[in-house]
Amino acid sequence: MVLIAHISDLHVSHVGFNESAFLRAVDEINALNPDMIILTGDLTENGYYAQFEESKEYLKMFESNLFAIPGNHDARNIGKQSFEDLIGDCSWKLTKDDEDVVVLGLDSTTPDLDDGNIGKLQQLWMENELDKCILENKFSIVAMHHHAIPIPRTGRERNILFDAGDILQSVISHDVDIVIGGHKHVPNLWKMQGTLFVNAGSLSSYKLRGKDVNSYNTIEVTDRDIEIYLNKLDGNKILLGNFKRRDAVDL
Ligand SMILES: [Fe+2]
Ligand SMILES: [Fe+2]
Repeated sequence: MVLIAHISDLHVSHVGFNESAFLRAVDEINALNPDMIILTGDLTENGYYAQFEESKEYLKMFESNLFAIPGNHDARNIGKQSFEDLIGDCSWKLTKDDEDVVVLGLDSTTPDLDDGNIGKLQQLWMENELDKCILENKFSIVAMHHHAIPIPRTGRERNILFDAGDILQSVISHDVDIVIGGHKHVPNLWKMQGTLFVNAGSLSSYKLRGKDVNSYNTIEVTDRDIEIYLNKLDGNKILLGNFKRRDAVDL
């Protein structure tokens, strides 16, 4: 089994960052001891170097390996340079060999713009990596900050990927198992033609809608099943979906 903690939208800053929610999440996730933590962007509120330094200190509290991609807030104020200085590459491939899981992290940001865009070069790189996943029968996860499909309860649609149509076609035609993202601060799950599109809420931003609370998702992948939970930081754990793996063999 592989257990992934999917966190998003920390928004570390002196205004709008809920430190107590973050610390609660650290305790909970460390107790879960996941195989990996994937952070889908908006580590900072403004992309300032000092905010990245601060978020790096916060992220050190997690005991599991953590892999992050930037969000639109991180791409402000030449934040992508700061991200690469302090956090790591903006796009990457992660292979969990013993479990046959591949995670591709994509950078969907453009400096100082809130809109999302993957771009042709990254798309081709992703398709090449996904071709290998198909050949090697790997379970594939694609992580990107922006949503490729609109999210309910978020008002007028904006900031969706400029190239959402091309990216959707690409991930669906390459049998991607799960696409994960954040950005809208609203947890959600869509299933489209065999691919799950899972959004995490915000882990620690006060920017929430209605009575929403800060949260993170957990993804459990076994040989046969995928279980996805929404873990609200008020203590409620909700099953978002339970699915049979597309490659599961009937016994
Ligand atoms: Fe955000
Ligand atoms: Fe965002």
